[in-house]
Amino acid sequence: MTAMHDVLLVGGGGAGLRAAIAIAEINPRLSIAVVSKVYPMRSHTVSAEGGAAAVIRADDSLDEHAYDTISGGDWLCDQDAVEAFVKEAPEEMLRLEHWGCPWSRETDGRVAVRPFGGMKKMRTWFAADKTGFHMLHALFQTSLKYTTIQRYDEWFVTKLLVDDGRVQGVVALELMTGKVEAITAKSVILCTGGCGRVFPFTTNANIKNGDGMALAYRAGAPLKDMEFVQYHPTGLPFTGILITEAARSEGGWLVNKDGYRYLQDYNLGKPEPKPVFRSMELGPRDRLSQAFMKEHEKGRTIPTPYGPVVNLDLRHLGEKTIDAKIPFVRELCLKYQNIDPVREMIPVRPVVHYMMGGVHTDINGATPLAGLYAAGECACVTINGANRLGSNSLPELLVFGARAGKVAAEYALSAKDPTSAALAQAADEKDRLERDYLRRTDGTEKIAVIRDEMQKTMEECAGIYRTGTALAQGANKLRELQERFRRLGLQDHSRTFNTELAAAVELGFMLDVAESIVQSALKREESRGAHQRTDFPNRDDQRYLAHSLIYRDGDGAGRVEYGPVSITRWPPGERVYGK
Ligand code: FUM
Repeated sequence: MTAMHDVLLVGGGGAGLRAAIAIAEINPRLSIAVVSKVYPMRSHTVSAEGGAAAVIRADDSLDEHAYDTISGGDWLCDQDAVEAFVKEAPEEMLRLEHWGCPWSRETDGRVAVRPFGGMKKMRTWFAADKTGFHMLHALFQTSLKYTTIQRYDEWFVTKLLVDDGRVQGVVALELMTGKVEAITAKSVILCTGGCGRVFPFTTNANIKNGDGMALAYRAGAPLKDMEFVQYHPTGLPFTGILITEAARSEGGWLVNKDGYRYLQDYNLGKPEPKPVFRSMELGPRDRLSQAFMKEHEKGRTIPTPYGPVVNLDLRHLGEKTIDAKIPFVRELCLKYQNIDPVREMIPVRPVVHYMMGGVHTDINGATPLAGLYAAGECACVTINGANRLGSNSLPELLVFGARAGKVAAEYALSAKDPTSAALAQAADEKDRLERDYLRRTDGTEKIAVIRDEMQKTMEECAGIYRTGTALAQGANKLRELQERFRRLGLQDHSRTFNTELAAAVELGFMLDVAESIVQSALKREESRGAHQRTDFPNRDDQRYLAHSLIYRDGDGAGRVEYGPVSITRWPPGERVYGK
């Protein structure tokens, strides 16, 4: 029998659990499903390290948080969404403390805050440098209180059920048994996180394949601002493991092969004895990653088997500070790099970390497709514009997870039951998975080969600096890979925990998302935030102070349109750092 719910969340990370709790609190009669391809505590939120921004100190203000976010985003943020975000973030952070999140404290008992890149006030709350773990834990244990929340752990959503112009649920594969079933709902919220895995070198877990983005895109909803891909300046060279920005906010220095603090050469200020807001190592991520590339061009990086690196020097902080404030950094360096940052410098290089773009939503998480909502990294509300500031994403998933939960719950109260045509789509999807993957024996292409070629293509054409020529070549290559993907052959035809089957579906999602990134980047002929076109080096507000919206065009590479940016109180200006 088909399972039926009122609201269904795809994804059990921070945004999904926050939305589920919001719905359960609003209306205890609503039946809520949380469908996640991993056990919720394994969602990628768990790996967030440095902190979550929200105004708390008397010397700070909501307007300052808003301005830092908007200028950091190179004026592509929707300012009404940013205003709502900065206002609701402190309430959400306090709520999380009441649910058990152990925010680090000052000795006088106040919540501790640290500076973070691109922010001009101390407003980043943290739980040492395991902030995501503690936040997710607090959300997960709170969700367990509500009997109306039913979890589908290790169920992988492969398709949205859409009929009558509205989303009516999902088709999901139970990974343990291979069973494919419809789970219907009056409204669906996508909370599947980002898509870092379309690139070869990323901080993102293997599970971040853009599932929700592709599900929405295939169902007819547009993806917004997909050309904006964030590189975090400090990843470990082999694994891509994140070395948190908190290491720099505590006073860490970035030095080139000559031991020189090279950021002083890139309009980011001059070295000072203590970290200075919006300066040097506390500049925004796009500028720091771009400076690394320039430094590399000048031959001042250090070659390694895993690409060029610079060094992050924490030695002057001392063992006591490192162990108290950033113990996880030390643990990661010891375990994965075999170095002790108390005594040695950490080799780092920019690494794909976050998608500013995602499923197009309004300020409440509603997509243009009735019954479909999105929140967290999977969504583009948009508060991050062309470059997200570090520590804005964790409060974002709380604020907009809660908002999406509320409106999806309201919608569910008046939505009709699922249609028989929607239910029939589940049988079609089951047949497709059987025919294309499980029963097929004549497939010639391999998942790993196509995935490697896709990731290499993305790095070559859609990295920190881009050109029209490279993007056009990348677009052609992705078309070829889409074609070859149709000839995929699986080795494993069994049902129980068939991870090869899941990887095949994920690869299909990633190819669609990769194309949406490249097509959107090709069309935007300007440089803004994380999208730097060397053939169009300036920001062009006349033509491109606009959100890109890419629509799926049959089986084509996607059709790009543009929509307005909401400007409320901060007209576009120059981004100034280091002063
Ligand atoms: O560096 C970090 O801890 C990352 C934070 C973020 O992406 O918000």
